[in-house]
Amino acid sequence: MEEVDAVDGLLGEPESLWEGGERHPADDHVAYGGRSVRSRRHLLLPVLHAIQDRTGWVSRGALEYACRRLSIPPAEAYGVVSFYARFALQPRGALALHVCDDIACKGAGADDLCAALEKDFGAPGGAWHRSPCLGLCDRAPAALVERAGSDHEERQVAPITFEGAASVLRGGQWPSTPLTPTLSPGGRGRLLRRVGVVDPLSIDSYLSHGGFAALRRAQEMGGPAVIREVTEARLLGRGGAAFPTGRKWESVADAPIRPHYLVCNADESEPGTFKDRVLLESDPFALVEGMAIAAFATGCGKGFVYVRTEYPLARKRIENAIAQARDRGLLSIDIEVRRGAGAYICGEETALFNSIEGKRGEPRNKPPFPVHVGLFGKPTLENNVETLVNVLDIVTEGGAAFASTGTKDSTGTRLLCVSGQVLQPGLYEVPMGTTLRELLNGHAGGVRPGRTLQTVLLGGAAGSFVTPAQLDVPLSFEGTRAIGATLGSGAVIVFDDTADMKGILLRIARFFRDESCGQCVPCRVGTKRQEEILERLLVAPHDDGQADVMLLSDIAQAMRDASICGLGQTAANAIGSGLTQLKVLNG
Ligand SMILES: Cc1cc2nc3c(=O)[nH]c(=O)nc-3n(C[C@H](O)[C@H](O)[C@H](O)COP(=O)(O)O)c2cc1C
Ligand code: SF4
Ligand code: FES
Repeated sequence: MEEVDAVDGLLGEPESLWEGGERHPADDHVAYGGRSVRSRRHLLLPVLHAIQDRTGWVSRGALEYACRRLSIPPAEAYGVVSFYARFALQPRGALALHVCDDIACKGAGADDLCAALEKDFGAPGGAWHRSPCLGLCDRAPAALVERAGSDHEERQVAPITFEGAASVLRGGQWPSTPLTPTLSPGGRGRLLRRVGVVDPLSIDSYLSHGGFAALRRAQEMGGPAVIREVTEARLLGRGGAAFPTGRKWESVADAPIRPHYLVCNADESEPGTFKDRVLLESDPFALVEGMAIAAFATGCGKGFVYVRTEYPLARKRIENAIAQARDRGLLSIDIEVRRGAGAYICGEETALFNSIEGKRGEPRNKPPFPVHVGLFGKPTLENNVETLVNVLDIVTEGGAAFASTGTKDSTGTRLLCVSGQVLQPGLYEVPMGTTLRELLNGHAGGVRPGRTLQTVLLGGAAGSFVTPAQLDVPLSFEGTRAIGATLGSGAVIVFDDTADMKGILLRIARFFRDESCGQCVPCRVGTKRQEEILERLLVAPHDDGQADVMLLSDIAQAMRDASICGLGQTAANAIGSGLTQLKVLNG
């Protein structure tokens, strides 16, 4: 049984296997519940991945075996496996091609590609699948290919052509695209200075570029002094919520309950966002060093990096970086890499804890806040990849020097992921406060010759549209807030006058309906109704649509006021701003 091999490969042979390879009867009577059982629950997702990678799906028999080995009630495990898009509960072939049809890829012909695939290879859901953003938006359209088996393989391909996709689906060669990041010479600052310069596979290369000097400096300064510098730097979290990092670190350091956990959020699933992938793939040792400093300063004994499953290369590189740093004796903390399973909601900090704990990725109510009751119920520091990499310069230069870049309320630089209909899409690092005009026209080359700018989606699907008249908005937390927009995760998606904005708004509505975890009614029902009404309004309007616009606005208010987490609270933002600013309505 291949599934059994996969599970045993991860967990080791069951102790109760006796001679002859027969399973001991006691193996079938493991009690559910109890402390030792709870302590193994967190292995559920790694076990499910092992099964899925080996056989291409999670059969009932495999799930039951996993449940016995981990002592998890099958109904609970079923609830988990069915939550995550990555796991298939029905048999399917070993090969799977995931084609992104999300915002940036739509603008680069993903719909035509999907239509051509459907004509030649049948509807999605067989060998090929439509996928939300794969974090390769600057080289859209993008795809991810995987083949299950004992030699399980995954590859990101971007841009993907019909010929490339057809070759994969006909069992031929996989297109190879070296994933060297697109960086403009003008768009490279502090955080990206080693990208494309250091060898991401070699700790010696990182050390020869000054690597681990910041950790040494932090150890000389002592934890409280490190936290003081981070506070003085006025660094705000780069994961989207812009929470003051120093304050978070201080709360965890002061928490009396032990152990403390450190979690790096590398789930990066906001459509249009790919900055963390570039850091993980091209400068992974910097993240390891940032995590080592954070753990040292806040007294964390164990760390996790939660990487979305759609980033196989990033996962390999960070695993390798952790292993090399550990072998050199540079890590006083044990860091484990955990793999997401295709759920945008797991980027929300408490949903991410549940996912690591082997549960459905449903957000928790706050308070209590993660700094007090986080992963496994213990005080937890959770930071985004970009946030943690910023800490290196704060420690080496000092908080005040760091704060001299940017604006008063938004210090430092910002990684901005430019995609869509612009001449030079790519990852840009600019001082906070740089205007959107400068980013787009100065760095990214502006729209194509002969075209005019229609709109920019700032902050991804959870963000909002910015009109050409607003291009002078400073890209800082307060600057974007002043015009009712958000920097969010740093996504900047550009649309010229040829873009089908109705299609984009409908895609955003579908995204939120698909990704709502369903735990609370305003979001579960609201995202569904929002999609239905928008479809009626944009595809088959029967009047001037004003009644539907009002209805959408009421639903938006209910979602904003009554949803448990940020997904429901932001699910109507882009659609609301699009309806107000873009000419998509009748009359
Ligand atoms: C629906 C949703 C998705 C999120 N996705 C991410 C993500 O992919 N990466 C991330 O760092 N933060 C994400 N966040 C924000 C996290 O909840 C959290 O604020 C962040 O990881 C904290 O790190 P920071 O303080 O360094 O920004 C998301 C929040 C919500 C509500
Ligand atoms: S707001 Fe949506 S995603 Fe968040 S907990 Fe409620 S149902 Fe889940
Ligand atoms: S990779 Fe397709 S939208 Fe991001």
